[in-house]
Amino acid sequence: MSEKTTVEKPWTGRFTEPTNAFVEAFTASVGFDQRMYRQDIHGSIAHARMLAHVGVLTTAERDAIITGLNDILAEIESGAFQWSIALEDVHMNIEKRLTDRIGDAGKKLHTGRSRNDQVATDVRLYLRDEIDAIAAELKRLQTALIDLAEREADTIMPGFTHLQTAQPITFGHHMLAWNEMLQRDAERLIDCRKRVNTMPLGSAALAGTTYPIDREFTARELGFERICGNSLDGVSDRDFAIEFTAWASILLMHMSRFSEELILWSSQQFAFVDISDAFCTGSSIMPQKKNPDVPELVRGKSGRVIGHLMSLITLMKSQPLAYNKDNQEDKEPLFDTIDTVKGCLRVYADMMGCTDQPDGTRKCHISVKKDNMREAARRGFSTATDLADYLVRKGVPFRDAHEIVGKAVALGVKTQRDLSEMKLEELQQFSAAIDADVFDVLTLEGSVAARNHLGGTAPEQVRAAAKAARARLAG
Ligand code: ARG
Repeated sequence: MSEKTTVEKPWTGRFTEPTNAFVEAFTASVGFDQRMYRQDIHGSIAHARMLAHVGVLTTAERDAIITGLNDILAEIESGAFQWSIALEDVHMNIEKRLTDRIGDAGKKLHTGRSRNDQVATDVRLYLRDEIDAIAAELKRLQTALIDLAEREADTIMPGFTHLQTAQPITFGHHMLAWNEMLQRDAERLIDCRKRVNTMPLGSAALAGTTYPIDREFTARELGFERICGNSLDGVSDRDFAIEFTAWASILLMHMSRFSEELILWSSQQFAFVDISDAFCTGSSIMPQKKNPDVPELVRGKSGRVIGHLMSLITLMKSQPLAYNKDNQEDKEPLFDTIDTVKGCLRVYADMMGCTDQPDGTRKCHISVKKDNMREAARRGFSTATDLADYLVRKGVPFRDAHEIVGKAVALGVKTQRDLSEMKLEELQQFSAAIDADVFDVLTLEGSVAARNHLGGTAPEQVRAAAKAARARLAG
């Protein structure tokens, strides 16, 4: 990027002194807003078309502007474009280049608009495109989770409350719990997109413009579904960016929960899953180590995104109407949120899914250690509630049943045996209501299969829920 201060700025008419060199660099945003060049050019083309449509530009001027802007687009994409800090931002860099290329027609492009409505339009268009890319990645991750849930619909693991073994569940059910969180995120993102997809262009600097603009025309050109209804709000509103970052914070909060579980499950102490080598790294000193870096990093990145939400909400707090330069600070937190979310979703969709190998086989990157999970479920008295429910079915009030089973568990703790390993006579000393059929409910399979209702953990329900989730994704 050129650091020269000799480039003529478009606003120097009332100035007699050049800008201080450090102030020039300090106030410039081109270093980070140039990534919106495509949206800036599309916005300008739509604006020029609208100006010609209402008779403010001639068709020849419009066409010169459109050709010039498309040439600049190609120049930027080929890497030939020279960005200049002296020209402050993406908007003035492109406008200046247009004027250099096409002369006076280029100078007319800014008629009836301001950088204030221009930047607000660019950010919304940029975010709208990124939301669509993010929604696609989110769907890929959801698909991977649903596939995994179907593959492991019968796989038994301990379910936890307080991180203590609670009741047996199926691994598929656990994966679908993650998918529920993501499904809510997907729905929230669709809703957020509506407010992002609202057009500020036409608000001009703050009060609107004296030209006979046709905002519906421009909105149609740019695919905006609504138009900002107040010019003061149009140039100053950044709620949409805050809302997206809040959305991202909830998503990353969810992903940090998945991460925490994967990290625990892949530890030697749990040994429930193995994450394939492609998604882990080693230690430079301890040769035996295989670390779950991907989930750890995603867990860490949640802090970064939540930090961006705090930045943006604090940036807007107490700002008077209308545009203030403070708003230039919206971009870096927003862009980093977008990049972070996209990266986290991409790596998770790959890691939770399967990929075709060069040798023609298919490799799934999360392998489930069924025996270990089953053993962990068996060890933790996870069928104690099933025994209590059994007693209730035999006519024992639930509170008494709870007490009876508690005593049986105490014996198990003392003698280091699960309830299913006790003799019938041993169990019967706690309640005469216990018969030989008790062992059916003390099995892990019996326990999960019994929770056979909408939202329950029974393999049959997991398969049905996976099917419904898949249909919802397709729909
Ligand atoms: N670079 C500026 C921003 O990001 C563009 C708008 C500048 N407007 C102004 N009146 N200085 O907010």
